[in-house]
Amino acid sequence: MSPAQPLTLITGASSGIGAALAREFAQRGHALVLTARREGELRALADAIAAEGRPRPQVIPSDLGTPAGVAGFAEALAARGLEPVFLVNNAGFGLLGDAASLDRARQLAMIDLNMRALTDLSLRVLEGVKRGRGGILNVASIGGFMPGPNMAVYHATKAYVLSFSEALHAELAPHGVRVCALCPGPVKTEFFQQAGDPDMHLPSLLLRSPDRVAREGYEGLMAGRRVVVPGTPNRAVTVAARLLPRGLMLAIASRFWK
Ligand SMILES: NC(=O)c1ccc[n+]([C@@H]2O[C@H](COP(=O)([O-])OP(=O)(O)OC[C@H]3O[C@@H](n4cnc5c(N)ncnc54)[C@H](OP(=O)(O)O)[C@@H]3O)[C@@H](O)[C@H]2O)c1
Repeated sequence: MSPAQPLTLITGASSGIGAALAREFAQRGHALVLTARREGELRALADAIAAEGRPRPQVIPSDLGTPAGVAGFAEALAARGLEPVFLVNNAGFGLLGDAASLDRARQLAMIDLNMRALTDLSLRVLEGVKRGRGGILNVASIGGFMPGPNMAVYHATKAYVLSFSEALHAELAPHGVRVCALCPGPVKTEFFQQAGDPDMHLPSLLLRSPDRVAREGYEGLMAGRRVVVPGTPNRAVTVAARLLPRGLMLAIASRFWK
């Protein structure tokens, strides 16, 4: 790896937005380490990136859903002498349904992946990111701007990601390190299948493609932006969430996941 090809770690790269982010970073000249649980999908993506004449991404399959899984992954990185200069915390999932009915263990697992693993990885790579004057792109959601009845824990995890990322942005900007929260609206990926409704109706006005989300995320991070919300209608939703009384926003959000 040369300094001109900064090493970039991307989590949740086996599908959806993560795979699109991997293609985007590769096209922009980054050397990649890809992780997720499904090794076959990661290797197929690495092959496709290498076939375009880019450096072949390293693949380290891992379950980041437990503290031990994250620690084991960090050890595998260190054993290979890999020190990322950029980190993309994208792995995450949501669950549709009211909190009282959804499985408690699955909801806690969502917290472990969406919040704990993201924080653990960020803290583990920070020294290298600072040394290399790189950055961290955390995939949050427009859901992070408001409470989400029928997706309560998911929205709460994304509110954490947004808050953590904005604070890190302020802490690290003086060190020349970029931290950005990428907050997509709805994107057609395996997300809704995992969440429990593969046929979920997604308003076309808000819908954006994984490639577009990845491109805007990459460009926003590199431009030093704190928060990126792809698409004007989605940006309008986040502005409304900040301006409207919380009770009114809660009533509007209650209708969204029905
Ligand atoms: N799709 C949307 O509408 C939308 C909107 C806003 C934000 N987001 C956020 O975007 C991110 C990517 O989601 P997506 O839409 O691209 O969904 P997706 O296609 O389901 O991708 C989720 C990724 O996370 C990985 N992952 C899940 N559990 C994991 C675990 N325990 N350990 C390691 N990796 C794990 C999955 O890989 P494996 O299954 O191979 O482990 C997959 O690569 C998520 O953080 C999501 O919350 C999505």
